[in-house]
This record gives sequence, C-alpha cells and structure tokens, in this order.
Amino acid sequence: MKRLPIGILGSGKGSNCRAILERIRSGDLAAEARVVISDVFDAPILDIAREFSIPNAYLAPGQFRTRLTPAAEGQLVEMLREAGVQLVVLAGFMRVLHAPMLQAFPQRIINIHPSLLPRFPGLEAWKQALAAGESVTGCTVHFIDEKIDHGQIIARQEVAILPNDTPETLHARIQIAERELYPAAIAKFCEKYPASNV
Ligand code: GAR
Repeated sequence: MKRLPIGILGSGKGSNCRAILERIRSGDLAAEARVVISDVFDAPILDIAREFSIPNAYLAPGQFRTRLTPAAEGQLVEMLREAGVQLVVLAGFMRVLHAPMLQAFPQRIINIHPSLLPRFPGLEAWKQALAAGESVTGCTVHFIDEKIDHGQIIARQEVAILPNDTPETLHARIQIAERELYPAAIAKFCEKYPASNV
C-alpha cells in the first residue's frame, strides 16, 4: 500500500510525535512523515524530527498567543502543500487553527487531546478531570474545527483515575494511552483514505 504523506505539528516535548515516527519506522503504520513543524523555536519535537531524519521547520507564529497570524497560517499551508502532506497530525500543537488551514485541508487535520471529549477541552485537561472528581478520563483523537478541542470524534481511550492519583501520575498514564491511540487512529485513517497522487 502507498504510504500516506503526513505532516506533524507540535509545540512541546513531542512524545506523541516520537510514538508515531517509531510506528512508521517499525512498519506498523503505512504513513510517511514528510515534515515536522513547530511554532516554538527550541521545542524538543524538532530535535525528535532531526533524530529520525525528518525535514523540520520552525514557523514564526506572530504576535498572538493562542493562534497564528493569518500570514503565518498561510505560510503553514504553503509549507505543508510543498511537502505534499495529505494528513495534518496535531501532536501537542497549542494554537487554534482557522480558515486558511481548515479550507486547505478539510477533514484532513486531526488532533489528540488528553480527556474524553467533549468533557474537559482546553488546557491541562487531566487536572480538570481530577478537580471534577471523575473516576474515569482518557484521551480523544478528533478532526478539528474552529473551536478549541472540538470536532468529529475519531477514537477515544479510557484511563481510570486512581484514588491516590496526582496530576503528574494521571497525566503520565494518559500519555501512555495517547501513544497507543494516536498511531492506531492514524493507521485506520491511512486504510480508509489511501494516499492519492494528486
Ligand atoms: C498531549 O498530551 C496532547 O494530548 C496535548 O498536549 C500533549 C502534548 O504532548 N494536547 C492538548 O492538550 C491539545 N488541547 P507531547 O508533546 O509529548 O506529544
């Protein structure tokens, strides 16, 4: 099967990116990482891309805190198109994307979030779940839309909240679940929407 060309965007430590690149390398995931892009100049996710010899780039986000400027978002579209990307994978990318990206890649941008959406969108979702006294939380892979951590759900995985959990222990277990769920969801996407030549 032809490998689906993907682009990975992230702002932080890149553990999901690493899990995806490892699955590609081991042959479990029929995708090809064409580029890794970060809005944070020294983000560890860019070091991971270099470690795996994947083309990588810093995208200057502009003056806003939670989104890209329209010019930066237009530049992002160009970078992804130039790399031939057919699926955009958000892996800890902490900015909300808007029309330029959503129009360029309709139903082709997916995100992972550390809660069972629609519960607890936004920052530090594991802390929100703990504070709400939940006994179960988890992680969700979903298509994105213009709202934060919102859009059609693709897959979810539950994680039990233990009585002695701290934010750190809970987050660590959710991240272990993420590293299983995300590559598996991308693999299913690759089967359902094989790479096209256009
Ligand atoms: C992940 O836990 C992901 O679910 C979260 O950022 C983390 C990135 O970790 N994303 C969000 O909260 C999106 N709202 P990583 O850089 O180690 O993959």
